[in-house]
Formats: sequence, C-alpha cells, structure tokens
Amino acid sequence: MTLKILQYGTTGQVGREILRQAPAHAVALTALSRAEADLADPEAAARHVRDLAPDLVILAAAYTAVDQAESEPGLAHEINGEAPAAIAAACAAAGAALVHFSTDYVFDGRKPEPYVEDDATNPLNVYGASKLSGERMALAASPRTTVLRTSWVVSAHGKNFVKTMLRLGREGQPLRVVDDQFGRPTSAADLAGFVLAQAPRLAAAKAGDPVFGLFHFANAGETTWRGFAQGTLDLALGAAAPVVAPIATAERPAPAERPLHGTLGTGKLERTFGYAPRPWRDAVGEIVAELAATGA
Ligand SMILES: NC(=O)c1ccc[n+]([C@@H]2O[C@H](COP(=O)([O-])OP(=O)(O)OC[C@H]3O[C@@H](n4cnc5c(N)ncnc54)[C@H](OP(=O)(O)O)[C@@H]3O)[C@@H](O)[C@H]2O)c1
Repeated sequence: MTLKILQYGTTGQVGREILRQAPAHAVALTALSRAEADLADPEAAARHVRDLAPDLVILAAAYTAVDQAESEPGLAHEINGEAPAAIAAACAAAGAALVHFSTDYVFDGRKPEPYVEDDATNPLNVYGASKLSGERMALAASPRTTVLRTSWVVSAHGKNFVKTMLRLGREGQPLRVVDDQFGRPTSAADLAGFVLAQAPRLAAAKAGDPVFGLFHFANAGETTWRGFAQGTLDLALGAAAPVVAPIATAERPAPAERPLHGTLGTGKLERTFGYAPRPWRDAVGEIVAELAATGA
C-alpha cells in the first residue's frame, strides 16, 4: 500500500528537497503551503491531520528568522512551540507518526565536545527557546514523534550560507567570516533523503520503538563558519578561490546571541537507523555543482 504523507511547508530548504525527492520513493505526498496551513493558527493547521488521516506527518515549516525572533517572541513561540504541539496531538489521535525538526540553538554552546541528545539545553535566543518548547511539547503529545535536531542547513535554493558566500566570492568582495563558532553543516537534500528513506519504518513502528524520540542529524565534520565559507569557495573556484579572513563573533554583533559550540554528535542516529552521514564537503560539492549547472 502506498504510504500517505502529509507535509507542512513547501518553500523552505528541507520542504523543497522532500518534494523534489518524493517521487523516487513512491509515496503519496500532500504538501501544504503557508496559505493552506498557517502555523500561526496551530489548531487550524493541525486539523489537516484529521482530514487527511496520513500514515506520516513531516513538519518542515517553522519560524526560522533567528534575529527577527528577538522582536517577535510571541509569534515564534506560536509557530515553533504551539503548532508542533497541536500537530503532534492530532497525529496521536489520527494514528500518524510525526517527523519534526529542531536545532543546535537549543544549547548554549559552552560544551566544547559534540552535544548528545540528553545534554542539558539552555537556549541563548528566542528562536532556540521556541524550538526547544516545540520539540518538548511534540514529544510529550505523541509517543510516535521523531525530532531531528539539525544545524547550518544549506541547499541549492532559498537563502542560505553557501549561496551567500558564492555570491560574495564572485563579486570579489573581501570576505571576513566568524571563526569562533563551531558546528556541522547539513545538506537539506541529505536530511530529506534520510526522512524519506525512513518513512516506511517510521509509519509502521509502534510507540516505544527506538526510532521515536530525539536525534541529532548533521553532515560529518566539524568546522567554523569561516572554514565552511572557505571550503565552499574552494569547491566552487578551486585555486582561484579568495582567502576568507577570520573574525570573532564579537566583531559582528547581531540581535540574537549564537552558541559558540553547536556541534551535534550523531552517534545515536547512526546506531538507531544504521545511517552514516557523509562529509559536509561532499554534500556542499553537490550543491555547488547544481548551482553551476543551473547558472544560479
Ligand atoms: N536553516 C537552518 O540552518 C536550520 C538549522 C537548524 C534547524 N533548522 C530547522 O530545520 C527545519 C527546516 O528549516 P529550513 O531551513 O528548511 O527552513 P526555511 O528554508 O527557512 O523555510 C521555512 C519554511 O517555513 C514556512 N513557514 C514560515 N512561517 C510559517 C507559518 N506561519 N505557517 C506555515 N509555514 C510557515 C516558510 O514558508 P514561507 O515561504 O511562506 O515563508 C518555509 O516554507 C526547521 O524546523 C528549522 O527550525 C534549520
């Protein structure tokens, strides 16, 4: 029987990648845009779960404007906290499994080693706090919820770090990038491929199965934003790549404070799902190639 999936979000990095890859997985995917399901109205958005009665729900929409969230805490909490809670409750009632995404920004970044799933959380900004409340409420509302915390998501579309660095590099602008924040870049395509590959297993699993709960998902390899920028430009421009100069976070103040160490340990994901994330340079190389092929 064809797996019935309901997805929230059609325009974001992860949502678009799932839409793009879904045909290869032979699933029946219904994806709702913001106009069709506005997460700022959690109860109305959650009603789609009851109406469609899917096997699996993927919540790929979120309030992701990290700095703007500082001045819109109520809206960020509604979209990132209350909406996942309402959708998870609807999933529990409808017998659907749920995949939800969260962030390394639930941590304060004071741990120099990679974070594991049960490390203490302490978000430094409104976005991180809103995502933390969402992951907690979604897990509490339905035992068949899988939350994938991810970090530094990039893809060939939307606004993201890889595309910004390539544009600045091409314009020949002097590049100065933060070199004291550490993390693991993540390809939206890899994350989407993982979710779709696991969809049948998640949809079939019963409450209590180890596939449910909290997991960290990121490509392999820790770097800084400067290292990420340099690696991207090297992949795109080879020997002609400009040198990216390091700066400190303090030199680039932003409304929202960021964790200095957001590196996610992915051991639990690897053990539970038998999935080995590939190096971020391989994934970013594909994005660079796709952008070059499309002239973007
Ligand atoms: N991007 C990252 O670096 C990063 C890092 C860690 C975790 N994550 C998490 O990963 C997940 C996917 O992120 P992403 O990078 O794919 O996000 P994204 O590219 O910023 O896309 C956000 C999506 O959410 C939708 N959305 C925003 N507000 C909405 C609302 N009120 N109602 C319905 N839809 C709404 C947007 O639709 P519109 O086009 O209509 O605005 C868009 O489709 C999110 O849960 C995010 O918190 C992302």
